[in-house]
Amino acid sequence: MPKVGITDTILRDGHQSQAATRMKFSQMEPMLEKLDKVGYYSLECWGGATFDSCLRFLNEDPWERLRKLRKAMPNTKLQMLLRGQNLLGYKHYSDDVVEFFVKKAVENGIDIIRCFDALNDLRNMQTAVTATKKYGGKAEVAMSYTISDVHTEDYFVKLAADIQKMGADLICIKDMANLLLPYSAYSLIKRMKKETDLPIVLHTHDTTGTGAMTLLKAIEAGADVVDTCISALGNGTSQPTTESMVATLQGTEYDTGLDLVALTEIAAYFRKVAEELTNEGWRDPARVLATDANTLIYQVPGGMLSNLIGQLKQANAMDKYYDVLAEVPRVRKDCGLPPLVTPTSQIVGTQAVMNILGGERYKMVTKETKALLRGEYGRLPAPVDPEVKKKCIGDDKVITHRPADDIPPELDKYREEIRDYYQQEEDVLSYAMFPQVAPKFFQYRQAAQLQVDNTMLNKGEMTMPV
Ligand code: CO
Repeated sequence: MPKVGITDTILRDGHQSQAATRMKFSQMEPMLEKLDKVGYYSLECWGGATFDSCLRFLNEDPWERLRKLRKAMPNTKLQMLLRGQNLLGYKHYSDDVVEFFVKKAVENGIDIIRCFDALNDLRNMQTAVTATKKYGGKAEVAMSYTISDVHTEDYFVKLAADIQKMGADLICIKDMANLLLPYSAYSLIKRMKKETDLPIVLHTHDTTGTGAMTLLKAIEAGADVVDTCISALGNGTSQPTTESMVATLQGTEYDTGLDLVALTEIAAYFRKVAEELTNEGWRDPARVLATDANTLIYQVPGGMLSNLIGQLKQANAMDKYYDVLAEVPRVRKDCGLPPLVTPTSQIVGTQAVMNILGGERYKMVTKETKALLRGEYGRLPAPVDPEVKKKCIGDDKVITHRPADDIPPELDKYREEIRDYYQQEEDVLSYAMFPQVAPKFFQYRQAAQLQVDNTMLNKGEMTMPV
């Protein structure tokens, strides 16, 4: 039994972080049998942005992709990333939709559901966790890691204990911005091991160049599983590389037991895929592999920086880049110190841009900022600045209950709305996640099926009814 488990992210976060989530199933397929034989703790291969990307850009049914992954990799635990009550979309869903989504994810092949909430509000994850266990999956609850006056080591140790109480099977530290430094990781995980009994998983990135060091110190402190990515899409904005970690631990008490030769064969194949993604314009090696010290200073996640640059370029205001960068932590503080991860990273980032470009802070306020301040995303980690609150939402009611408590069952309504396209139960969920995008995919699918029928007809393989 290996001492440290490895979750490889090559099929999800690796290409999401380095290549705009554009890896197609056909690019994964040739290596699935080999990946299945490696002996990973698990393979992260679904959820996050892959679902959206399948429907929006790749004309793939995400459910069909999952079934194919499952079939090709019967021996490895398949893992997905889920945004709690938001599932894979950008709003809160009713409990019946959450439960049905989890049921279908497990039925189609997912073993481990890593669930997170941008505000670390456990109420937003409870339905997903309960459903995961009900349908036979493993519930991994992630703490969105950040640093602030309230996000101290004590905060995360207490949160870990609460996660254990809510019935999770594993606890993950999700360090999406690569802010967790090696010695802080050591100290935090030591304490988590003492105060909880669950396996501890660490997910980080290498944006700030500290990723592999952080994983190593985490392992020394007792982390049970770490996320790494096959070198072809590893390091930089992605996870530290699998081969380097496996080699580092070989022959020590932390030996992963994985075969380096098999891993290098897999890496050689995915290097070609990475090159294809680069040639198609989805991956800029110089950018994704650069070490980004701004993240350490401004605590702005790497992915968010590229969004900000995009917004400023669109507004022809790149000269305001550093002003916006400095405004981000101020907006974050005004809004009760949310960790910066989807969707709060977009909300805070966009508001910071508006505050700078508008010439006056909170002169323009997005509806998402207002919703955040009204408690509609969940409980904020710290009190909101009273003046900012007054200026943005006046005397609007602020909710303190779980936001999804206000959402009546929605599944039947979604079912009704896509009746014309319905081919499988899962279609309802694709539509619920992406109501604008999914119908276009369903139309594409219908047209493709029609075309296949016609070709077969022309070849005489199918006869018309007489
Ligand atoms: Co990540």
